[in-house]
Amino acid sequence: RLTVDTRAKGTKVSPDLYGVFYEDINHAADGGLYAELVQNRSFEFNATDEPSYTGLTAWTKAERGATATLAVTGEDPLNTSNRNYLRLDVTGSGTAGVSNAGFNRGLALKAGKRYDLSLWARRTEAGPLTVTAEDGTTVLGKATVRVRAGGWAKYTASFTASATTDAGRLVVQAPGGRTDLDMVSLFPRDTFKGHGMRTDLAKMIADLEPRFLRFPGGCVTNVGTYDPYAETGDRRRIYQWKETIGPIEERPTNFNFWGYNQSYGIGYFEYFQFAEDIGAEALPVLSVGVNGCGENRPLTDEAKLARWVQDTLDLIEFANGPVTSEWGEKRARLGHPRPFGLEYIGLGNEEIYPEFFANYPKFADAIRAKYPSIKIISNSGQTSQGAWFDRMWQFARDQKADLVDEHYYNNPSWFLANNRRYDSYDREGPKVFVGEYASRGNAFSNALAEASFMTGLERNSDVVELTSYAPLLANVDYVDWAPDLIWFDNDQAYGSPSYHVQRLFSTNVGDRVLPSTFEGEVKPVEGIKGAVGLGAWNTAVRYDDVKVTGADGSVLLSDDFAAGASQWSPGLGTWAVQDGAYAQTALVEDARSTAGSAGWSNYTMEVTARKTSGAEG
Ligand code: AHR
Repeated sequence: RLTVDTRAKGTKVSPDLYGVFYEDINHAADGGLYAELVQNRSFEFNATDEPSYTGLTAWTKAERGATATLAVTGEDPLNTSNRNYLRLDVTGSGTAGVSNAGFNRGLALKAGKRYDLSLWARRTEAGPLTVTAEDGTTVLGKATVRVRAGGWAKYTASFTASATTDAGRLVVQAPGGRTDLDMVSLFPRDTFKGHGMRTDLAKMIADLEPRFLRFPGGCVTNVGTYDPYAETGDRRRIYQWKETIGPIEERPTNFNFWGYNQSYGIGYFEYFQFAEDIGAEALPVLSVGVNGCGENRPLTDEAKLARWVQDTLDLIEFANGPVTSEWGEKRARLGHPRPFGLEYIGLGNEEIYPEFFANYPKFADAIRAKYPSIKIISNSGQTSQGAWFDRMWQFARDQKADLVDEHYYNNPSWFLANNRRYDSYDREGPKVFVGEYASRGNAFSNALAEASFMTGLERNSDVVELTSYAPLLANVDYVDWAPDLIWFDNDQAYGSPSYHVQRLFSTNVGDRVLPSTFEGEVKPVEGIKGAVGLGAWNTAVRYDDVKVTGADGSVLLSDDFAAGASQWSPGLGTWAVQDGAYAQTALVEDARSTAGSAGWSNYTMEVTARKTSGAEG
């Protein structure tokens, strides 16, 4: 019997409770939401960032009678942000050139759909370039680009695909002579609301009816090895929003925290526009010049910090300023004179370092002084970060932050056990933004544990103002992190069970949660699998001969985890501990071992397990 007190006032549900957290992780942008079909369109891939990269990553030679010599060079480049390009020398009769393999298996093309090509080229003599979309030996689309003699110029063309493939190639053929090529791009004409996002993925996100879009990360936001203002073209700079707006050929390629190049094709303007297109508010997160995610190279140079603070104020002006303001005018020139209506800004992502305490007030004070109505979100790091979590929270209270961004990636059992987590949270202090959370695993039982937990979020929505599951997107061929909400390859996508739970909740938000009581038999949740996590930050780790042993010494499981080159929690595995019925490991919240410098070491970790079905309940 469920009794609902319909006369009670209940708890008002935050109108912004359910949103999404978008980060360029798992190739969420390039090879994902960003509909660009060509990989390494600007020839900026470089072995100094990732040993498997070359300037010709995803490109191969394609000779049709003539001979091609390919070189990626930086002599007299397109501009100072886009320093490398392809120099193609063709000799002999016929044509020769290059072929691009796209992402995953190749380029996905659909019969009857229109595709738009653009490229920058330079030739000493005028000459035609033939561009074809091919699947094996079949030509699916063709366009000719007549390159004039002289300097760099942009050329465009389009074609309709005659057949469907998910393994296409884009082939560019040149006649004899020298052709310099850069920014070779192919886009489907159909993108979400015509704004460059892959339709199926954008629609799945829109179907969640999110109230906000947190972006651009995550660790992508605040981890970079190089000075954000370096003029040297380094590709590992901290994310700078100003680098990501304007003509795409003037946006640099950056090597991101997750170990791959991001083109910034989705930049800040596109994020704001996408948020609007899906009916959400944009919620940007900026670093305060402190790294996070296991790395700490804080920006301590006062002049650069002051510039960073000014850049943050400029971002607010870019979002909300009138067209007569400097940055409002830039927004208008990009096609959006109306302000975007920014309401929230995040300062820092898991920046659990002492420098955060020094830097944060510089940003918060400047924002409060100029834009007092903007809600400032401080951060606390992850629940598993122990004392830091509490210290960061206390700091946010002292600073009178409007909200605190909490993160947790825990086992399903944690979510079941923490339904009442927010019942006792202080109602006077900052509100809570659960900016990143997920139970480890992508099974139905994970979704169920999250659903249970989410009833606690709603019940406490007077203090929990915003929530977003994380991460949002994962390309099945480039997985940095799992679980994720939406999985895809180059032409298909599906939602995990957690996706459907998020959608169920966010498309059915009530106004108030009324108090209720339950009478009846309380049954244990059955069939929740246990999980054993072996993780490591930013290091290639191999765990071998991992055993889970029962109390009687019997080996319940044994396995090896090879991390390879992955940067993130490589050995995170979900195992069913099965001894007749499923058993559930108790939560391993903070089991840590201090790894030796090199070589094999033996670690033990005690995990108590309890059965979740059978006599013990
Ligand atoms: O969501 C994946 C990562 O988890 C985010 O980048 C980071 O904020 C957190 O550690």
